[in-house]
Formats: sequence, C-alpha cells, structure tokens
Amino acid sequence: MTHMSSPKSIMVEAPATMANFGPGYDTFGLCIDRPVDILEIERLDGKGIELEVSKRGYKVPLDIDENTASVAARELLRLYGKDLRSISLRMWLRKGIRPGSGLGSSAASAVSGALGVASLLGLKDKKKILMAAAKGEAVSSGTPHLDNVSPCLFGGFTVVLDHRKLDILRIKPPQMKIVVCLPEMVIETAKARELIPKHVPVKTSISHSSWASGVVHGMKAGDISLVARCLRDEIAVPARKQLIEGFDSARKEALSAGALSFSISGSGPAVYSLAEINHESIGKAMVKGFREAGVKSKFFIAMPGKGARAKTQD
Ligand code: HSE
Repeated sequence: MTHMSSPKSIMVEAPATMANFGPGYDTFGLCIDRPVDILEIERLDGKGIELEVSKRGYKVPLDIDENTASVAARELLRLYGKDLRSISLRMWLRKGIRPGSGLGSSAASAVSGALGVASLLGLKDKKKILMAAAKGEAVSSGTPHLDNVSPCLFGGFTVVLDHRKLDILRIKPPQMKIVVCLPEMVIETAKARELIPKHVPVKTSISHSSWASGVVHGMKAGDISLVARCLRDEIAVPARKQLIEGFDSARKEALSAGALSFSISGSGPAVYSLAEINHESIGKAMVKGFREAGVKSKFFIAMPGKGARAKTQD
C-alpha cells in the first residue's frame, strides 16, 4: 500500500488454512483460497473498539475480550506501544469460515484484526502482526500455535521452525486441487488438543521425520504425488478421528474414488484429500461416506491461497 497519510478505513480478506497438513502437527500449515473472512476497520474520533458481526456470516462472540479479531487488534496496538485510550476503531466482521471447522476460522479473524489495524496505522512489522494474531487466536484455541496464523498471513505453505522466535519458513506450493469435505459437526480445538498423546515412540518420530521431509521436498519441487504420499500422521489423526463420526467411511469412499491421501484439517472436523484427477467424484464420495454414517456434509475444491490482503477503502 502506498499512501502518504493513514487511510480512514481498511478492508481485510483473510482466508481459511489447513493446519498440521499431514505429519506436521503444530508445524505445517497451508493457506487455501476459500472460504474467507472479511473485516472492515474504520478509524473514528473517540475511544475504544466497537465490534459488529454481520448477520450474513457465522456467529462469533461480540465481546471484544472474546472475539479473536478485536483481541488481536488490541494486542497489535499494545505491541506498538499505542495508547489504547486515544484510539477508536469500529470493526465490522463477516465470518465466511465456519467456527469449529478445522479450517483456521479463529486464526483468519485474528489475522484480519492484526493486519487491519496495522494497515490502518501504517505499521508494517510482520513479526508483530503475527505475534498479535497468535495472541488473538489463543483466545479461542486455548494455546497460541502458529500453524494457522502463519499461512493465513503469509500465504502458501508455511513451516513453524521456532514458535518462540516466530521463525517461519515460507514455501510456494504447487498449484494443486485440494478436495475439502466439511461434515456438519463442530469440534473445539482446545478439546481436540487434550487427546494428543504426551509422548510418542521413537518409531513414530522416525516415520514423521521421513514424511515431513517428503512433504517439504514435494512442495518445493512441485511434486503433488510425493506430497500426497507423505500426508500421513500417526500422532494426531489416530487420536482425533474418534471425534469425527463417519471418518472411516468417508476415507474409504475417498480412496476408492481415487484420492491419493485423506487427512484431518487442523483439529477437524474438515477432512481433505489430494488427487491428480477426479476431484469432483472424490468430493461426492466423501459426502457419500459421511452420509452412510448418518452425517451431513458438504465438499468444495480449493487451491493454495495467497494469504490475507488489506485494501484501503478511501
Ligand atoms: N495445530 C493445531 C491443532 C491446529 O491441531 O490443534 C488447530 O487448528
């Protein structure tokens, strides 16, 4: 953005993300191009933050201490040492990403809050924006983890190398189609995190190192079938699939329809597959699999996304 004075209002579009992405629990994340959250922020004269949530989107808390967008916005101001009493903001949020879906809903709102305020005030430090977004996301997930906020902010595929130092590796993924299926159920990330084992056998750790290396190499080399072959997980998926009624039957149907992989996005319940062909048929097969288990679901086909974008409104 190139403007001489600060704009009065900003619109941010923040996309969905798929955390863990196979073997990278709390480490890997992929930005996808849909769905998105939209946040408008306007600077007013007065004090404090006003928050409004569009009726056309999903419902989220309106309390500014509980909404991930307003918490992230406030944290960004705090990190820059801005006096909160001298700044007044009106925030209008339209939630396009269903909360509790496993598609980085709280992270997208948090990134939109932090990036929106930063853009409004001409603040550009990406690490501070990331830190503020992580703080915002933690309001909903219980603990700060960066594998949704990083790909949402930077776009593409990201690897959290060190979460304390906010050291993030950014990789441009190949143009691949991802079949995503969202069953009609909600999973709370904090609860799903309680199921993760505290310790894993060395054998599991070795397998995860191998698969994680394959995913990173495949992403860099544009080798979609290698990425798909390595989208495996013996830590989070086995512990969490019990939360997703119909997981096994959706998996079976997806693989029979030609999917090269099947995994949980973030803490679920969204599941996804990579494939070179037959994406529509694979999506329908997943829906059929869930239906056989008595669960309604919808599928869509996504591509890797470019990350959150802020646009000046005036
Ligand atoms: N890595 C986090 C988890 C992502 O799986 O709990 C939550 O969206």
